Amino acid sequence: MTSMTRRHFSALAAAALWPLSGLGQGKDDTLVMRAIPSSGERLPAVGLGTAVVFNNDDAKIRETAAQILRTLLDKGGRLVDTASTYGDAELVLGHAMPAAASRDKFFVATKLESPDSAELERSLTRLATRRVDLLQLHNVRHPEQSLAQFRTWKTQGVCRYVGITSTSERAYGAVESVLRREKPDFVQIDYSLDNREVEERILPLAAEVRAGVLTALPFGRGRLFRAVRGKSLPEWSTDFAESWAQFFLKYLLGDERVTAVIPGTSDPAHMADNLGAMRGRLPDAAERKRMVAFVRGL
Ligand SMILES: NC(=O)c1ccc[n+]([C@@H]2O[C@H](COP(=O)([O-])OP(=O)(O)OC[C@H]3O[C@@H](n4cnc5c(N)ncnc54)[C@H](OP(=O)(O)O)[C@@H]3O)[C@@H](O)[C@H]2O)c1
Repeated sequence: MTSMTRRHFSALAAAALWPLSGLGQGKDDTLVMRAIPSSGERLPAVGLGTAVVFNNDDAKIRETAAQILRTLLDKGGRLVDTASTYGDAELVLGHAMPAAASRDKFFVATKLESPDSAELERSLTRLATRRVDLLQLHNVRHPEQSLAQFRTWKTQGVCRYVGITSTSERAYGAVESVLRREKPDFVQIDYSLDNREVEERILPLAAEVRAGVLTALPFGRGRLFRAVRGKSLPEWSTDFAESWAQFFLKYLLGDERVTAVIPGTSDPAHMADNLGAMRGRLPDAAERKRMVAFVRGL
């Protein structure tokens, strides 16, 4: 490990637990927060993913989305991840965010298919904002893809951070090339307790180039819940996890290279459950190994 990487990990460890007041949860409460490597800004480590769940814009879905967003904020979260291609999700958020709270309470991440001004303008209009916090190039698949235009937008104040995303192992080679060359502020990648390829390939490089990591598909699109249906939490996990969601998310947060997890949900109660993964202790290295073995044995 280089001294830069060591320093980076120490900073992340110091920023991992951050006291939060005013939540009505008791004065000893702490939330897992992670520093964005390129800026040091602290981000609550559990956010909200919006693929599929907000596909169709109507009054009912806007109200549910506003409830989910209020829960996110009430329980100490900030990060909302969406994309220009998630059906009506940006539009739903554009209505639900102002219904829930002021724009500056949220850390808004969206994704574009290409560095195209018309696509950017469409996303900003649908999200009812003039700037996003994180602008990501969606589904990187060619090693030569450039973030030059995204960096220009960052300079112009359209976004505060730039990033890339992928959830396809076949594209990891391209992701690695773009990460190494462009050194974005963030990489968003598929990572779950039963899908850990990135521990060897993407996370070490992200730490090296100082990119924050957002974990897409933290439940494998719900696959992990289906695998444990009807089962109770193992007794050895109950002092750090109160639910299967927290078990799955805390495994990911147990890796300090992970900046935030972004589980998708259409249910405010599930949002609250997921945000519970920011509370209490995280599993240590030995417990994380045991979690992997447990899920392998299902
Ligand atoms: N290429 C990319 O950049 C890319 C690709 C895919 C995804 N993503 C991002 O990653 C996010 C997460 O992925 P995802 O939403 O597809 O899958 P996911 O987060 O792995 O799983 C979502 C599923 O888990 C269920 N769930 C959530 N919380 C739960 C809880 N506490 N208890 C029980 N069930 C729960 C949801 O059902 P309920 O609705 O009933 O809660 C939904 O069926 C996306 O929303 C998107 O923002 C990015």
